[in-house]
Amino acid sequence: MVEHLTKRFGSGVTAVADLSFSAAPGKVTGFLGPNGAGKTTTLRCLLGLVAQTEGKATIDGVTYREIENPITVVGASLEASGAHPARTARNHLRMIASAAKITDSRVSEVLETVGLTAAADRKVGGYSLGMRQRLALAVALLGDPKVLILDEPANGLDPEGISWLRTFLRHQASKGVSVLVSSHVLSEVQQTVDDVIIIRSGSLVYQGSLHALTEGGPAEVVVRGPNIDQLVLPGQWSRKSVANGETVITGATIEEVGRAAFEQSLELHELSAKSADLEQLFLGLTAEESPTNQSVNGKGGPE
Ligand SMILES: Nc1ncnc2c1ncn2[C@@H]1O[C@H](COP(=O)(O)OP(=O)(O)O)[C@@H](O)[C@H]1O
Ligand SMILES: [Mg+2]
Repeated sequence: MVEHLTKRFGSGVTAVADLSFSAAPGKVTGFLGPNGAGKTTTLRCLLGLVAQTEGKATIDGVTYREIENPITVVGASLEASGAHPARTARNHLRMIASAAKITDSRVSEVLETVGLTAAADRKVGGYSLGMRQRLALAVALLGDPKVLILDEPANGLDPEGISWLRTFLRHQASKGVSVLVSSHVLSEVQQTVDDVIIIRSGSLVYQGSLHALTEGGPAEVVVRGPNIDQLVLPGQWSRKSVANGETVITGATIEEVGRAAFEQSLELHELSAKSADLEQLFLGLTAEESPTNQSVNGKGGPE
């Protein structure tokens, strides 16, 4: 949980500004915002890796540093594996495990969970970015924590890997784990998350269910037919697009569009409701209002 969290860097950059949110047990919470929005900085505050300027960042009511055996409470992956390239994944995990009095059998177990068993005895130096991401997840899982904090875990994963990640995150949440997962691409996590926290320039722009976010968006009706371009719309509706006999209408319900087509004797081949375009909604929410958006889009840096 983060309460009125603010982080200013010496250089005068306010990376996080009065941010408050929480992530619930048994849920996957997406922590979203464009590059440079302050996601990594927030997660670093939560993990006690950087001291906040103001406010609180706690896990289960206490700061990370107050947790006695943190690996058993919170698992984190901030960068794709800090493992030594000459070490094997299994040895990397064993080292961390032995420091925390975790057994070798648990090491094998997490390797299996992340799908690295076959590659476990190969040197990490030869790993793809996706395999490193899996190794970072294995490290996070070692202590069987009830909180998972993952910074851009989908980065570098191929579509198969992203699909695997979705199942993985859902499985963790179904065990009651609080999963907080950041991303700068909504579509990566869209099918996985229950709740979303969206930030822009360090400040909260939305917290709530993904469902409620789409409900709030503009509804669209897709209508298709051979002469659909002839459909006459009442004043308050608008035609968003017309292409190949398909029209997208906003400002009307599906019933109203159906009735209008019927009254105008137009043949229909499709009449469907389209939920708001999430990516558009996300971009709209996170777009800078002022023209000085350079600091947000210009610097992202490697994630
Ligand atoms: N150690 C640092 N020193 C100075 N500025 C930083 C530092 N870390 C991050 N920032 C700045 O803070 C802002 C937020 O960065 P970051 O938390 O990495 O965003 P995100 O993870 O959402 O891309 C950016 O403007 C970034 O340049
Ligand atoms: Mg980041």
